[in-house]
Amino acid sequence: MPTLQMGSNPVEVMVPRAGGGARPTAGAIAELQAVRKIYYKPDGSIMAEALRGVDIAIPKGQYVAVMGASGSGKSTLMNIVGCLDRPTTGAYLLDGRDCAKMGDEELSGFRGRKIGFVFQAFNLIPELTIEENVEVPLFYQAVPKAVRRKRAIDKLTLVGLDHRLGHRPSELSGGQMQRVAIARALVTEPVVLLADEPTGNLDSATGEAILEVIEGLHKGGMTIIIVTHDDRISRRCQRVVRLADGLVERDWMVEKA
Ligand SMILES: Nc1ncnc2c1ncn2[C@@H]1O[C@H](COP(=O)(O)OP(=O)(O)OP(=O)(O)O)[C@@H](O)[C@H]1O
Ligand SMILES: [Mg+2]
Repeated sequence: MPTLQMGSNPVEVMVPRAGGGARPTAGAIAELQAVRKIYYKPDGSIMAEALRGVDIAIPKGQYVAVMGASGSGKSTLMNIVGCLDRPTTGAYLLDGRDCAKMGDEELSGFRGRKIGFVFQAFNLIPELTIEENVEVPLFYQAVPKAVRRKRAIDKLTLVGLDHRLGHRPSELSGGQMQRVAIARALVTEPVVLLADEPTGNLDSATGEAILEVIEGLHKGGMTIIIVTHDDRISRRCQRVVRLADGLVERDWMVEKA
């Protein structure tokens, strides 16, 4: 970093690069550069420093587990990767674009096209049929009804639920509800699938079936980031990022037997 001599004190200056913004690493689909996330109290004092300088570059197609104790920053990290939140300082790049350069509306549209979310609690809308639930993200993109319906049915077929299109979520098992949620996450053809403990509410046999669906997506080339507390799940991923107290404590590639 160049320095300027100001009086007797050297001052660091940031030299802006042509075009401005952070530079993506070649091949990375999602990348955090020196990300800090601070939550403030209403009086402006610091409530929590949830991420304290995190660097992670995720190559396209990688299957990554994020682990760490409660409060270590996993959900905060996922919120930034999923463009639901922005870093306090540092840069986040998704599919080659610096998210700090986008306004809120542009970022939200970008999120809708690039990211699929799957949550522990499924988060389906009970009043809608499963086919309508899967259509919801396309509704926000103003996709015409006939196209929405076709794409929803395609994804429900992919997760093995095309025979249940007109059912309501309450008529399904937990594993089936999570399949609907996965179909909904995929319907926009995202580049990254984020799953926050997707098997946390399922028994082990049902959880296994959901993991197999996710692994099938990975084999098809999708980038997947999964938060889990379960070593049996992380061992099946390609890479494990372990957070501790807002920092990457360990980041390693899983050796396959
Ligand atoms: N909206 C918020 N406002 C204030 N502090 C927050 C907020 N969200 C998270 N935190 C704090 O940031 C830290 C990291 O929280 P985070 O939710 O990312 O942890 P986590 O690893 O997902 O934990 P868990 O396994 O319990 O879900 C914690 O100290 C938490 O209290
Ligand atoms: Mg969490």
